[in-house]
Amino acid sequence: MEKTHLAFLPTPIQRMPRLEQRLGSSCPELYVKRDDQTGLATGGNKTRKLEYLVADAKAKGCDVLLTAGAAQSNHCRQTAAAAVLNEMRCFLVLGGQEPPKQDWKGNLLLDGLFGAEIVWTTREQRNQVMEETKKRLEAEGHRPYLMPLGGSSAIGTLGYMNAFLEAHSQIQESSLAITHMITSTSTGGTQAGLILGNRLEGAGYEIHGMNNEPEDDMQTIIAALVNEAATQLDKQLKCTSEDVNIPDWIGMHDYAEVTDGEREAVQLFAETEAIILDPVYTGRAASEMIKGIRKGHYSKDDSILFWHTGGVASVLHQGKDIF
Ligand SMILES: Cc1ncc(COP(=O)(O)O)c(C=O)c1O
Repeated sequence: MEKTHLAFLPTPIQRMPRLEQRLGSSCPELYVKRDDQTGLATGGNKTRKLEYLVADAKAKGCDVLLTAGAAQSNHCRQTAAAAVLNEMRCFLVLGGQEPPKQDWKGNLLLDGLFGAEIVWTTREQRNQVMEETKKRLEAEGHRPYLMPLGGSSAIGTLGYMNAFLEAHSQIQESSLAITHMITSTSTGGTQAGLILGNRLEGAGYEIHGMNNEPEDDMQTIIAALVNEAATQLDKQLKCTSEDVNIPDWIGMHDYAEVTDGEREAVQLFAETEAIILDPVYTGRAASEMIKGIRKGHYSKDDSILFWHTGGVASVLHQGKDIF
């Protein structure tokens, strides 16, 4: 599959020795894959998905990127930045009411700087508004490329299959004994891409997705994404929901609910490794990893690669009060 160059790759893998020490003598070796450093307007996991999505849009002759998300969506911010670099227009369908301009902060501030055209709507009406916006743009003579939430289509998923291959070869080159990979899971494309790479390479890591969408059947959604993405590569895979590991011991908090667990994780990564997590995605995933270590789900003989998938722009928006 073709891809457009947007990312600074490869991102490094670093050990987190001070965090290991803080988590006590039964802590596994902890490594972090710095996909918060992929570049493209403060980085994050969407850069890799957008490399494939934008290439697909261009191959189809599209001139507008159209997607949706929350007001603080990392995916929308990175889509707006990708549109700038590819001289395309960008339409974002964002949830909520338009705040006054002086309150545009974090990702929303960046969306505005990148010249994204924003349509505000409710979560319930989002799909309908996306369709209406698409039709309106087509009637004006444009060719919009519609991306699902989080860029989690089969094409976007290929970005994380590629990320897997990159990490796997770094692990082999440095002779690391990684047993587990841990990622945040929300729309599913990141975990799906990692699972696909793991299967195609026969690498055998345990890939744990720390789900922050408890209302959705993420295992089924992710298994379908794995199979569809494999088809894009002319491979036949039979991934089923049982092959998608979302540990059953993780907490089932609502999307973006910030509990003491997220607060602790964000604080711990900052004060031990000077790594900035966000409370919604990476803070949630790190909090579940820490819980897993404390409860003995991961042992001293394990070695974990934590995927840092970004989110710095949104944490800067949150303000100190959440901590
Ligand atoms: C910073 C960050 N990490 C992780 C995720 C989850 O990735 P995915 O939507 O591919 O499951 C997202 C996006 O939704 C995100 O913005």
